[in-house]
Amino acid sequence: NYDHVPVKTQYSSKPIYKNLNYNSVETLEPVLNFEVFEDDLWLISYPKCGTTWSQEMVWCLMNNMDFETSKKVDIAEKSPYLEWTLDVVEKCKGLPRPRFITSHEEMQLLPKELWTKRPKIIFVVRDPRDVFVSFHHHYKYFYGKSFTQDRETFIEGRMKYGNFYELVLNFYSLKNQENNVLFLSYEQMKKNLKSVVLKVSDFLGKHYNEVQIDKLVEHLDFKNMKNNPSCSHKKELELVRKVKNIKEEDIVEGTTFIRKGVVGSHKEELSEEFLKKIDDWERSYLEKE
Ligand code: A3P
Repeated sequence: NYDHVPVKTQYSSKPIYKNLNYNSVETLEPVLNFEVFEDDLWLISYPKCGTTWSQEMVWCLMNNMDFETSKKVDIAEKSPYLEWTLDVVEKCKGLPRPRFITSHEEMQLLPKELWTKRPKIIFVVRDPRDVFVSFHHHYKYFYGKSFTQDRETFIEGRMKYGNFYELVLNFYSLKNQENNVLFLSYEQMKKNLKSVVLKVSDFLGKHYNEVQIDKLVEHLDFKNMKNNPSCSHKKELELVRKVKNIKEEDIVEGTTFIRKGVVGSHKEELSEEFLKKIDDWERSYLEKE
């Protein structure tokens, strides 16, 4: 389904697979050289880790809990994906400050100035088994019925944003060194969203009362997010369907971006055999740590 090419820049030690279809390669250098400001806020994640959920939380915290505006503005406007297209890179340059920018790029491919200007960064992670399942449904949503996911592709890191563990472990290496990076997990958010909201609010230096925090927790609740049109990635969907020429009849009825929203959906959807492969793959990374 994809035309992946291994891409290597002077900053990456190994090739990173990029989807040439409609973004990424042409944005590599402009992203690396993107000017960063100290007062930016960056959200970085491997796709399907709860990025949209975190974007919505952070945007509301940064924008005086303006839920009504939030529902009207597409998530891609609230916090653009820097590497999405050259136009987005240009747009991000001129966002009103403090800018709120999202990226799924690996550390070596992020703007070099992130490491010198040291703005606040929020990094979100999730169990890779659930990430894989979510990715599978994500592609069905965007690419339609004919899409089939090659399971080995995930383990080999030949996904659009490369290997899950390369991205995550590189970031985790900052955990005890950098105080400008906040680590969140999808699982924490599921377990106790309010405590995560409070932690993020504190990290951003925002002060809200209990009633406002409770309203945000309610706004971020799964059913409410699912009914929030600004979080359905409509813009991305339109672009993908146009570029990939997806026909009406190929669209899978009932698929949504905000899909199941649970921890452990891999248990129902992945075979024992594939789970074992993921365990081995995971061990090969974690044992190096
Ligand atoms: P599932 O496909 O497992 O349901 P991302 O935004 O990084 O692409 O992540 C998407 C995943 O986050 C999807 O997972 C989506 O359903 C889940 N998600 C989004 N909002 C959520 C919420 N409010 N509560 C729980 N899960 C949510």
